[in-house]
Amino acid sequence: MITNTINLNLADTYMGLPKLENDSFDLCIVDPPYGASSTKSWSYGNKEKLKGFGGEWKLTNEAWDLLSQNDSFTGTYFWLKELKRIIKPTGSIWIHSTYHNSGFVNVCCQLLGLEIINEVVWYKRNSFPNLSGRRLTASHETILWVHKGGEKNRKYTFNYEDSKAYFSSSDLLKEPGKQMRTVWDIPNNKTKEELMFGTHPTQKPLRVAERILTIAGVKGGKLLVPFAGSGTEMIAGLEYGMTVYGFEINPDFYELACKRLKHYLEKSTRLLY
Ligand SMILES: C[S@@+](CC[C@H](N)C(=O)[O-])C[C@H]1O[C@@H](n2cnc3c(N)ncnc32)[C@H](O)[C@@H]1O
Repeated sequence: MITNTINLNLADTYMGLPKLENDSFDLCIVDPPYGASSTKSWSYGNKEKLKGFGGEWKLTNEAWDLLSQNDSFTGTYFWLKELKRIIKPTGSIWIHSTYHNSGFVNVCCQLLGLEIINEVVWYKRNSFPNLSGRRLTASHETILWVHKGGEKNRKYTFNYEDSKAYFSSSDLLKEPGKQMRTVWDIPNNKTKEELMFGTHPTQKPLRVAERILTIAGVKGGKLLVPFAGSGTEMIAGLEYGMTVYGFEINPDFYELACKRLKHYLEKSTRLLY
């Protein structure tokens, strides 16, 4: 899918990233396969919903997410090395993870000299219950915010005043006018509009990407999304006023992302006229 502001490729990011130019993007949001899937076939339906939101609970059990630890480490190293080359010195990279891959991401950043600016904890108040009763209920993910300048060359964009002013009625921790903390209280539900063209098994709520853009977005700049999924981060980028570029390897998810992006474009055109 190609428009003036969108370039979404049905392609393998490992093949696509090496073709992108040095220092050519202002921001990157990476939501990679976590390697969190199990081969267990059970799933769990739950009628519990937050008011105003749609969607059922579903456990992740996806072929593309079944990575060996070795693949996870070498893959992470590969795309982080590429992103270090592609992102501008004034830009930054945000990487989603859970404990399955967060160690790899952290070690690879350190090996590559990508300075970690912050580690954000995305607290999911309404997280999926632990069915076995053998573990605590996993109710957070981590997001690393990194830049390539190292500690002597910190040029990355930080929209400090915007981050202070940020307010979301669903976040019980963030007060408007106070500095943004590293714990974000964002329920994992999606709105009906976010799910209107179908579901992706690990679709993020738009509100997570919107907050990242508030902090590090560049109006009129370029956003790169190496693992596009259903297109959440690309939609948030468009909404912020960036041009967006992404890769998605799965044709079904690619179609879903195209539908969502097209819908967004049509909606924003309608609002203009
Ligand atoms: C964690 S999901 C991203 C979900 C996305 N944040 C959303 O909200 O919809 C990761 C996506 O990466 C895709 N993927 C996995 N390996 C890939 C590769 N080598 N190249 C491009 N996409 C890939 C998967 O098909 C999956 O849709």
